[in-house]
Amino acid sequence: MADLYSLHFFNGKIYHNGEKVNTIEQIIQACIEQSGSRFDLWVQFLRSIEVKNIVELGVYKGDFASILLEKCHSIEKYYMIDPWRHLDNWNKPANTSDSTFDQFLLETQSKTDFAAEKRIILRGKTTEVVERIPDGELDFAYIDGDHTLKGISIDLIRLYPKIKLGGWIGGDDFCKSIWQHNVTFEPTLVFPFAVYFAEAVGAQIYALPHSQFLIKKQSSDSFSFIDLTDNYSDTSLGSQLDISRMKSGEKPIFRKRHWLARIMKSR
Ligand SMILES: C[S@@+](CC[C@H](N)C(=O)[O-])C[C@H]1O[C@@H](n2cnc3c(N)ncnc32)[C@H](O)[C@@H]1O
Repeated sequence: MADLYSLHFFNGKIYHNGEKVNTIEQIIQACIEQSGSRFDLWVQFLRSIEVKNIVELGVYKGDFASILLEKCHSIEKYYMIDPWRHLDNWNKPANTSDSTFDQFLLETQSKTDFAAEKRIILRGKTTEVVERIPDGELDFAYIDGDHTLKGISIDLIRLYPKIKLGGWIGGDDFCKSIWQHNVTFEPTLVFPFAVYFAEAVGAQIYALPHSQFLIKKQSSDSFSFIDLTDNYSDTSLGSQLDISRMKSGEKPIFRKRHWLARIMKSR
């Protein structure tokens, strides 16, 4: 069957439509050009870096894991971190009952049984299980767990030592607005926190299509934020909150709460 992906590897070099690709930015751009979804994007990228050891943090029903394991043949170890249980203090739509999470774990196992010898299931929250991965073990981590400010800070800070120099951290839900869901849920802070984190550790960070981000771990201090989507010009938080009220000495409230309050009033 024809390979639908346009990046090809020959003698340790990467070719895109027959042309040799050199810089990391060219590789990322070539991956983006050919990707209609986040799944395609990461398959292309992980094939281009010939990923070996990987962790997915937040696995849910195993859809992402099964695609990567099927399409990225260089993978040797695939760590899966997820509590697969109801979390009392995680106010996000994906939080469900213990019994449903038990089913999701079974579903994950059955979808990835074809690669059971590569799979290491670590059932627990990041803080409960991450130390079972040795420091410097990973070529790539995909963060897609608790996307709140608490969650993304814990995940980036605790995973960073696990990545080898020259390795990568990618992630989902790098949303331009912190109000990813209905305002009854906790806001999503992957953006801008991941950008602040990259600056703190002196790493390059890329904004990618499909609300994805990518951080490169390097030895030199080389922070830059490379927005390949032209979506994230403002990395401050103030613009997403109602600071006009703060300036006039009133208590700040969230913009979407104005909107919600109007709906409630009109009922
Ligand atoms: C959006 S889903 C992951 C989707 C999956 N990566 C995919 O692409 O198919 C989020 C997952 O994060 C897990 N999660 C929530 N809080 C977590 C934490 N503190 N540590 C690890 N995983 C967590 C949830 O149990 C849930 O399964």
